[in-house]
Amino acid sequence: MKIKNAEFIISAVGPDQYPEDGLPEIALAGRSNVGKSSLINRLIMRKNLARTSSQPGKTQQLNYYRIHTDNELYFVDVPGYGFAKVSKTQRAAWGRMIEAYIQNREPLKLIMQVIDLRHPPSKDDIMMYDWLTHFDLPVCIVATKADKLPRSQWPKHLKQVKTTLGIKPNTPIIMFSSETGMGREELWDIITQTAFP
Ligand code: GTP
Ligand code: MG
Repeated sequence: MKIKNAEFIISAVGPDQYPEDGLPEIALAGRSNVGKSSLINRLIMRKNLARTSSQPGKTQQLNYYRIHTDNELYFVDVPGYGFAKVSKTQRAAWGRMIEAYIQNREPLKLIMQVIDLRHPPSKDDIMMYDWLTHFDLPVCIVATKADKLPRSQWPKHLKQVKTTLGIKPNTPIIMFSSETGMGREELWDIITQTAFP
């Protein structure tokens, strides 16, 4: 996929700040530090447009990136879940914001749920996936950090992710690496098929 332009638009703290132009939105969900921002950067081939950090819990708003390929769309970087070091009140507030966004946002076309290929999905990962599928939301699982495992172990880990999540037959799953670019074209295919059917 060729990226003509990519720009940061806004860190939105609430619905009144979400863009109003109706372009399709693709959201990233996943536990803190799993590699959501890195995935955006790899998809658009920019080193640092989406802010990444080795300190988890840095992304606290919905960060909108407007991407111009053959068409235009937004990537929406969503705060990571399962980060212990924030207060309960803060966590509950983020939770409500994310839930409201995911359930009510008309232009939202796909949620890319990012999971670490190295480990079995956590309780939070499973809850998130159950929640998304319960509401029949379009979801795609991206199992990232594949570069951190030898190739010979990929099939075993992929199977573990599928089994632990109880993945539905209609949920696509992709092995990915933001380090090497593995899975990039495959993921772009899914994104464009869902955003521009
Ligand atoms: P929050 O915004 O805190 O929720 O984190 P995030 O999910 O956006 O994670 P981020 O992209 O900031 O990545 C966290 C750390 O993992 C960084 O140190 C990245 O360099 C590293 N990382 C992310 N993806 C990959 C990958 O595919 N391979 C390797 N080796 N490292 C990765
Ligand atoms: Mg991030």
